[in-house]
Amino acid sequence: MTEQGVIERYCRQFADVKDVSFGQLANGFGFIEIDSPQCSGKVYLQGAHLAEFRRKTSAKPLLFLSQQAWLEDGKPIRGGVPICFPWFGGRSDAPHLPAHGTARITPWKLRAIENASNGLRLTFQWQSDGWALVYSLVLGDQLQLELEVTNASFQKQTFEAALHTYFLIADSSKAFLTGLEKATYLDQLTGKDCDAEERAIEFREETDRIYAGTHAQIVLEDPVWKRRIVICPKGSQSTVVWNPWIAKSQRMPDFGDEEYHGMCCVETANVRRQSVTLGPGERTLMSVAIREEFSEG
Ligand code: BG6
Repeated sequence: MTEQGVIERYCRQFADVKDVSFGQLANGFGFIEIDSPQCSGKVYLQGAHLAEFRRKTSAKPLLFLSQQAWLEDGKPIRGGVPICFPWFGGRSDAPHLPAHGTARITPWKLRAIENASNGLRLTFQWQSDGWALVYSLVLGDQLQLELEVTNASFQKQTFEAALHTYFLIADSSKAFLTGLEKATYLDQLTGKDCDAEERAIEFREETDRIYAGTHAQIVLEDPVWKRRIVICPKGSQSTVVWNPWIAKSQRMPDFGDEEYHGMCCVETANVRRQSVTLGPGERTLMSVAIREEFSEG
């Protein structure tokens, strides 16, 4: 829940920072709005969830946010960049626990906002179950997201994490992804390990895959809008690619039946076999820089 009085406190604390404002929905759900010369954006305090981002020079938002997204305490937001942590997907050992972990459905603390040379930097903190997280977002001409995880407990611990980025695209049946041609993957729909396909990824059916390995650059090509979204991950050993397609879209209550046409997720991650174990006091970083390019014509 957005703690009472927290929005007023942030308004006072960050009164001198240009280009940001704070607000609350009628249900009390708190957010930060960014409106700078370079971009606009919206971040909810629950989950430090970047829900909207658009460069001022771009006619289209970068991120998809469902028309049916829940913006309510304790519920995940369908779109933007949910942070999955400390586990990914459901927990077979504890099926009653929330899918994709607790970090995306609990409030984070806003620690700093700075006008950096490459944009506005927001820094959030979250602590739970012996984990201490610092998440920083730079919203400028590009988007830069960085998640630092510290094991703040006295024993070895293992986590999974994903920056579950929903991209807005014109038509998922025409868009394609390059950069993962040589990567093997786990097909989450069949549970099978699959060989590298040696070709671009296209969306023709429900797609739910965890690609292994590190990748310097992944490009989401959107020929209809003549946009290329260039995704540069660091510190991640997996990339999740997801589109729910027809039947799953119909099953999800917070997602429109036809919305799968206009989105796909490409997630910078360390999940499943690429989960990370840290000793007491150890820390690790995972980040992604995302930029868009438009071709002429
Ligand atoms: C993806 C997973 O990352 O997230 C899918 O690979 C899952 O299996 C999807 O369906 C959405 O998850 P959720 O919990 O937000 O509905």
